[in-house]
Amino acid sequence: MSKETQNLVKTSSEKDQNKNIQNYYKLQSKIYDATRWSFLFGRKKLVKVLPFEKNAEISILEVGCGTGYNLKNLAKAFPKAKLTGLDVSEDMINLSRKQTKAYADRVSLLQQPYGPNQKAVPTKYDAIIFSYSLTMINPHWEDLIKHAENDLKENGVVGLADFHDSRFLWFKKHMSNHHVRMDGHLLALMKDLYEPILEEVKSAYAGVWEYVVFVGRKRD
Ligand SMILES: C[S@@+](CC[C@H](N)C(=O)[O-])C[C@H]1O[C@@H](n2cnc3c(N)ncnc32)[C@H](O)[C@@H]1O
Repeated sequence: MSKETQNLVKTSSEKDQNKNIQNYYKLQSKIYDATRWSFLFGRKKLVKVLPFEKNAEISILEVGCGTGYNLKNLAKAFPKAKLTGLDVSEDMINLSRKQTKAYADRVSLLQQPYGPNQKAVPTKYDAIIFSYSLTMINPHWEDLIKHAENDLKENGVVGLADFHDSRFLWFKKHMSNHHVRMDGHLLALMKDLYEPILEEVKSAYAGVWEYVVFVGRKRD
């Protein structure tokens, strides 16, 4: 990361960070689904490439489930899967609850931050996905990627869809005002910790930024 970019990244204690995110989503939750389809690319692909049979009786955790967009798509793609959505924002969790109402018998929602300091999750998962959450979690994203290893079953799978990088400083600055860090920093650690099954970096809006979709298996 260049010095110029480093200065953009606003980092704070975990507690302050979670407060900032909760405040940010008080308003953003109201326009989230109406706006995010136009720039959070790769989310459908992530669900599509998870390496499970349609009727597999699996458990999947989404960290930072937001309004439940992915949980709903996961519920449709895997009709026998048990799903857990975890999010630090009450406003977002409430929207998730509405969006996944039809699948309430197999979707659990928890309002809490994810990471080494949280209450232990009562189970191990077949898959844990992070979709546009990790670039907002600064500087603790690294702890969360590592922590997921503990919460995965043997041979468990991690999935990521997120912003990757941009060659335009003005865009990185713009995104940092929305708590997003874009430095290509997630993929390297993911590849280090998880055996890649799929790794894709794609360009958005004629190269203004790149996004990443990664699926990897927990190493032995
Ligand atoms: C950009 S939204 C993505 C929502 C959803 N995953 C999607 O793809 O549409 C990021 C979400 O991560 C949540 N979040 C941020 N920090 C978190 C943390 N430490 N633990 C759990 N959720 C967090 C935010 O509240 C927000 O709902």
